[in-house]
Amino acid sequence: MTTATLAADAKQARIVGDFPILNKPTSRGQRLVYLDSAATSQKPQSVIDSLVKYYSEYNANIHRGVYEIAARATDAFEEARAKVARFVNAAEPAEIIWTRNSTEAINLVSYTWGLENLKPGDAIVTTQLEHHSNLVPWQLLAAKTGAELRFIPVDERGVHVITDVDSLLDGAKLLALSHVSNTLGTIAPLEMLVRRAHKAGARVLVDAAQSVPHMPVDVRALDVDFMAVSGHKMLGPTGIGFLYGKRDLLEAMPPFLTGGDMIRRVEYTTTEFNELPWKFEAGTSNIADAIGLGAAVDYLSEIGMDWVRAHEIRVTSYALQRLEELKRRGLAVYGPPGAENRAGVISFNLGDVHAHDVASILDTESVCVRAGHHCTMPLMERMGWPATARASFYIYNTEADVDALVAALHKAANIFKLPA
Ligand SMILES: Cc1ncc(COP(=O)(O)O)c(C=O)c1O
Repeated sequence: MTTATLAADAKQARIVGDFPILNKPTSRGQRLVYLDSAATSQKPQSVIDSLVKYYSEYNANIHRGVYEIAARATDAFEEARAKVARFVNAAEPAEIIWTRNSTEAINLVSYTWGLENLKPGDAIVTTQLEHHSNLVPWQLLAAKTGAELRFIPVDERGVHVITDVDSLLDGAKLLALSHVSNTLGTIAPLEMLVRRAHKAGARVLVDAAQSVPHMPVDVRALDVDFMAVSGHKMLGPTGIGFLYGKRDLLEAMPPFLTGGDMIRRVEYTTTEFNELPWKFEAGTSNIADAIGLGAAVDYLSEIGMDWVRAHEIRVTSYALQRLEELKRRGLAVYGPPGAENRAGVISFNLGDVHAHDVASILDTESVCVRAGHHCTMPLMERMGWPATARASFYIYNTEADVDALVAALHKAANIFKLPA
C-alpha cells in the first residue's frame, strides 16, 4: 500500500468516526449501511455539539437583545450566514436568506419575484427531471399569472436534450432547474444553460438541493440569479436552508412573509421594510439550526469539496461496477452513463419486484435505500417506471457499504427466486 493510499484510508476512517449514528449497531445488531443521503444526510458530532452548545450556553433571541448571551447568539447566527455565503461564493452575506429548506426558498421566489414579474404570454422553462418542489410552485405561478410552463426534455437515460433549448427559452422570463437530479443523479449542463437563458432575457433559479452538498458550487462563476439549498442534506440540521439571490433582484422584490424582524419602522397604517437579508426573515428565525448549518459548512470546508466530489465519483464508480454482476439476475440500473457524469445517486429496479419490497429486504440487512417516486412523479411517468429503489452516497460511505448493498440485493434476488 502506498503512503497516499494509507493517508486516504485514514481520512476516510476519521470521517466515518465523526458520525455517531454510523458507529453504533442498529436495533438488529448490525452495522448501519446508510445509502439515503439524497433524502437527508447524517450529522457529524461537531454539528450535534453546536446545537447542544447553543441551547446549553447562550440560548437567547437575536438582533434585539443588549445582554451578553443575546449578542453572542446574534454573532453566531450572522457568522453562520457569512460562512454559507463564503461556501457558495456569494458577493456578500446579505445575499443569503435563511429559509426552512429549498422548498421554501423556491416558494419565496415564486410568490415574490414571480408574481411581480410574470404576465400572460411569458414563459417559465423547467425540465422533465424536477423534484415536485421545483415544479408545483411554477405550476401555481403559471396558473396565477397566465404564463406558460415549458419543459426541457430528457432522453431514456435522464440526460437533458438541449437541441431545442433556444426555442424553448424564446419569450421565457425564468429558467428554473435542478443542478443535480435527486432521482437519477443527472448533472445539468448549467453553465451553458445559464448563458443561453440570460441571452434570451430570462432569470435563472437553480434548485441546488442535490449539488451544493456534493460538489463545489460557485454562484458567481455560474452567474445564477437565485439558488435554493436545504441544510439537512449537507450535514446540517433539519428546518434550515437558504435562498441565494443577487442583491439587485432581492432589493426589488416585495417581502414574502411579514411581521416582526422584517421591518425598519412601523406606524399604524404603514410599514417601512428592513434591509437585506432581514426583509425576508419575518418572525424569530431558526437560530440554533442556522448555527448548526454553519458548523456543517465548517466541516465540509475542512474536508474540501473537491475531495467530496472525487470521493463520491470513486464510490459511485465502484458501485456501478459491482452492480453489473446483478444484471444477470434482472437488475436494471438507470441514469447517465459513468460515475463522472452523475452525482452519487443510483436508481434501480430488480426484475419485476416492486422497489418497496426490495428496500424492505435490504432493510433486514440494515441497508437503507429509498423506494418510490422520489418526489418526481412526472419523471417516473415519462420513463414508464412505477417506482425505483435508490442508493445515494455521501462522504461517509465506503466500498464496504457498496459490498453490503450488493450482498443484500443477492438476498432479495434469492427470496424472489430470480435467476442465479
Ligand atoms: C432536487 C431536490 N429539490 C428539492 C428538494 C426539496 O428539499 P426539501 O424537502 O429539503 O425542501 C429535494 C429533496 O429531496 C431535492 O432532492
